[in-house]
Amino acid sequence: MISIKSDREIKLMREAGKLNFLTHEEVKKHLRPGVKTKDLDKLAYDFITRHHAKPSFLNYEGYPASICISINDEVVHGIPGERRIKDGDVVSIDIGVEIHGYHSDAARTYVIGEASKEVKDLVKNTELALYEGLNKIHEGAKIGDIGAAIEKFAHEHGLSVVEELVGHGVGTNIHEDPDVPNYGKEGTGVTLRAGMVLAVEPMLNLGERYVYLHDDDWTISTDDESPSAHFEHTVVVTKDGYKILTGEISKNEEKL
Ligand code: MF3
Ligand code: CO
Repeated sequence: MISIKSDREIKLMREAGKLNFLTHEEVKKHLRPGVKTKDLDKLAYDFITRHHAKPSFLNYEGYPASICISINDEVVHGIPGERRIKDGDVVSIDIGVEIHGYHSDAARTYVIGEASKEVKDLVKNTELALYEGLNKIHEGAKIGDIGAAIEKFAHEHGLSVVEELVGHGVGTNIHEDPDVPNYGKEGTGVTLRAGMVLAVEPMLNLGERYVYLHDDDWTISTDDESPSAHFEHTVVVTKDGYKILTGEISKNEEKL
């Protein structure tokens, strides 16, 4: 079932989105060579709980941490631990925040220090692919329009699209209907309605699209060990387009 959120619910989801944005900013401040991923996780946990909110991922289907940190060939769902970030790493940070019963979901990827042009382009183009998909969103558009745009952009830039994981609806649950694939055919799938809230999240690889699940039952990596990038925003569909709920906080919006 796909839920349509009321204006009141959208306001609450923007609160969850603002805190998600601020948590990303907080993690970013500490993201440098030498830092342990479990210390970034702790920082995010402390920041979120200090704001009377909950990390959505903690204990979700048994997930053992507050955020996901996926490095280099890791695509998504990397579990923070003793590993230290090092120069040249491609680091994806994925954060979920729940406040007043509503969730937000957002991911970013950073290149730490110096990296090849290829790797920098992977990260830049994955972020641009997210916006290619988002720009298809408006009332009356189809879910397939989003994936088709992401896939086209990825292939034009020599990147492959991970198909095993998809975006999703967001609301009182972190994962709701509908699925939002990062591939597909224009004009197909569910029709978008104003008030639907979607997490759009392309995962693009520099090499082939194939991935495997690690023995920890969470971390997903590329088969060919090529680096992968991931960007995600939670957005609400509007009559003419969409609004990003996990984006920057503007001057005329209340700070938290
Ligand atoms: N943002 C992730 C996703 O949508 C959620 C991580 S699932 C968790 O797939 F279990 F790690 F929390
Ligand atoms: Co998500």
